[in-house]
Amino acid sequence: MKTVYVGMSADIVHHGHINIITEASKHGRVIVGLLTDQAIASYKRVPLLTWDQRRIIVESLKGVDEVVPQEELDYVPNLRRYRPDVVVHGTDWREGIQQRTRARVIEALAEWGGELVEPEYTPDVSSTKLITNELQRGTTPGQRLRRLRRMLQIKPLVRVMEVHNGLTALIVEQVRVNEDGAVREFDAMWSSSLTDSLAKGKPDIEAVDPTSRVVTVDQIFEVTTKPLIYDGDSGGPAERFVFLVKTLERLGVSAVIIEDKVGLKRNSLFGTSEVQQQDSIEGFSAKLSAGKRAQVTEEFMVIARIESLIAGAGQEDALERARGYIDAGADGIMIHSAKKDPAEIVSFMDEYAKFPNRVPLVVVPSSYNSITEEELVDRGANIVIYANHLIRSAYPAMWKTAETILKSHRSLEADEFMLPISEALRLIPHTE
Ligand code: SPV
Ligand code: MG
Repeated sequence: MKTVYVGMSADIVHHGHINIITEASKHGRVIVGLLTDQAIASYKRVPLLTWDQRRIIVESLKGVDEVVPQEELDYVPNLRRYRPDVVVHGTDWREGIQQRTRARVIEALAEWGGELVEPEYTPDVSSTKLITNELQRGTTPGQRLRRLRRMLQIKPLVRVMEVHNGLTALIVEQVRVNEDGAVREFDAMWSSSLTDSLAKGKPDIEAVDPTSRVVTVDQIFEVTTKPLIYDGDSGGPAERFVFLVKTLERLGVSAVIIEDKVGLKRNSLFGTSEVQQQDSIEGFSAKLSAGKRAQVTEEFMVIARIESLIAGAGQEDALERARGYIDAGADGIMIHSAKKDPAEIVSFMDEYAKFPNRVPLVVVPSSYNSITEEELVDRGANIVIYANHLIRSAYPAMWKTAETILKSHRSLEADEFMLPISEALRLIPHTE
């Protein structure tokens, strides 16, 4: 009996999958290489169903004899292991991003005289399209909230971008680039205290209060499906922080990050030029624990932000605080630095990697922005936040347009800096 190998994600099973399996079973015993969650997330999106859930479905399909994990998008490691006589795949991979995968399969099969069978791709059905349509319909607070933890389980690095209104949130929801056949996009959104304040013309000193901040979050949620991490500033006194936790959960926010500062909070990127007082480890730990006790869902995350490097208190203080905050129940640690050189962050990450009870690590490379995502992953970061980049890029463009109109006594000269009105009108597609 011949062995037949079929690779698939099977996140949403449709008749296209059945056609492939039916064809495969005509050639012999069918092994399905079911892409792991990590393999799928490495080139497109986080699957809706877990690998185990998808395995149960695929195992019960007629014509499937065995389901094995395929750990990478690349088939070759599994092909060498199972040495199938036949690989079956739809013709769709002859074009576009999967061409390279196909070429590698052909090469590997040649090693033992295997054969590639390519039934005509079933037209008008694609799980990617089905899932996009599903997401366009929207999400629920619970589904959105849970997504961050799921991403942390399966993605080497969760990539987060600042949003401060519906429009910026739509950009983060939609922008993607193709790179070597993989899709790169932002995984989640950051509700930044700095950019929400700037957008309202106020300084970042908690003057925009949580009641206003959550209205912004609500507007962001109306037009997006991606998860959101909320910048909770100092969290206020523990007695108030517990209310914030419940409010955020009810909206579907996935995590709050609070920083260990007391007194008037100033933005961290002032560095030591503004005097900032840090809370005691005991004081801040009590606030973290109160937040954890207050939460209603299992999945909501309370993340502790350490300001020791910002305040000039040094590495040892930062590490001691990380230990204390983890003991107090923090679901993640954020370490911040206002230095241009990533050295102090890198040395913190190296020490933190040795913790036996480490929790996900969040970094915000606004100042030390020479460091790449690949380096951050190597050093053990789990979440990277681009904390203020959309507002900082919009502001100079707006200023320039305003200035040009003043100088020109009309707006004609500013046309080149602006989106044409016809495009602005169509920017937000009208959906039924
Ligand atoms: C924010 O975005 O508001 C932050 C990060 O808290 S930072 O501005 O770097 O302090
Ligand atoms: Mg902030």
